[in-house]
Amino acid sequence: MISWNMDLRVVLVVYLVLNVGEINTSDDGICVAKEQCVGSEESDVGKSHYTEDFNKYYNEIESSLAAYVPCNNTNCNCHTDVLKADLKPFKTHGITREMIQRAKQYGTHYQVIDHKLYRQQECMFPARCAGVEHFVKPLLSVLPDMDLIVNCRDWPQVHRHWSKEKTPVFSFSKTSEYLDIMYPAWAFWEGGPAIALYPTGLGRWDLHRKRITAASADWESKEPKAFFRGSRTSDERDALVLLSRSQPSLVDAQYTKNQAWKSPQDTLNAEPAKEVTLEEHCRYRFLFNFRGVAASFRFKHLFLCSSLVFHVGDEWQEFFYPALKPWVHYVPVPVRSSPQELEKLIRFFQENDELARGIAQRGYQHIWNNLRMADIECYWKKLLKRYGKLIRYTVERDVSLIEV
Ligand SMILES: *[C@@H]1O[C@H](CO)[C@@H](O)[C@H](O)[C@H]1NC(C)=O
Repeated sequence: MISWNMDLRVVLVVYLVLNVGEINTSDDGICVAKEQCVGSEESDVGKSHYTEDFNKYYNEIESSLAAYVPCNNTNCNCHTDVLKADLKPFKTHGITREMIQRAKQYGTHYQVIDHKLYRQQECMFPARCAGVEHFVKPLLSVLPDMDLIVNCRDWPQVHRHWSKEKTPVFSFSKTSEYLDIMYPAWAFWEGGPAIALYPTGLGRWDLHRKRITAASADWESKEPKAFFRGSRTSDERDALVLLSRSQPSLVDAQYTKNQAWKSPQDTLNAEPAKEVTLEEHCRYRFLFNFRGVAASFRFKHLFLCSSLVFHVGDEWQEFFYPALKPWVHYVPVPVRSSPQELEKLIRFFQENDELARGIAQRGYQHIWNNLRMADIECYWKKLLKRYGKLIRYTVERDVSLIEV
């Protein structure tokens, strides 16, 4: 890491010298290494108005790398700050019976009593509940008695401003506007979105890790293009799809059908595209991630291709997002960027291959090393043990719950 960092400084000095030297010529002089400078006479005039933004991207990368300290993942510590922050509102006064009573309307009620797990019979999304239970059951021997309210919907429930009283609800994703306690999503095991290619739902992160990594072609053989496939769950995805239509050699971004699809209007006035497996994404150098209804399950998988991940928007979080650093592990893209802004960013990384490859590799290594199944299990364990310590009343068995 350190030597890479030094390399970047050298590269930047070379770049700045060249850029200053060429400021009065028609050549825009955007090049980061000698080899790449050789052909610079060929570079077209249209690029020159990019210089200012390109400098901004260099500076972002340099300062982010300079500030970056890789996390120490002993005991899933890369992610521990997240659960500390989520449980903090309960730290002083603990969790009371009244709080649980209030929380019940927002999720599925679970109880841990005498190291057994109980759940209310009704579960809105059975596969999601099963995905949660997969992680909780192995922990029962170390857990104290507790009530747990687990929201299996996509949307968080406890708004910072509308919820005056503290209400402990577990949700997989939220924005900073919400006080939900984030848990690792069911989809790490099962119950993820079911599309035609994954009819039983995206799940089994442990298997995807291996399969996608195996499919990750080496950088040179990847098409130097931006790629996205997904349904139009949010119109924040439109700009890239529009750019793809005007510049198909730069971007391939198309909408697929989802269950709500009725007409081409739902795919921005085009016929829906075919779904593409996660492995096939690895054929492209630049992979885009957008929020869906909440955070997108796609995100973590994209890193496994060792392609460069462009992550649009920073509002929607899952528990592992804060450990991922912008410009270090992925390229942050402002939400509502115009097609022109997206083009600039993609072209920057097309022309600065080493920078692109460096971020892609660091992103892959981070996810591979710090988002293992063992880390998901570890996070669940730490989260529930700390949560259990906050319970301030004697948990009594609710006989309407069934043992699971
Ligand atoms: C990570 O933290 C653990 C426990 O605090 C420590 O024993 C280990 O040496 C650390 N590893 C690194 C690489 O710093």
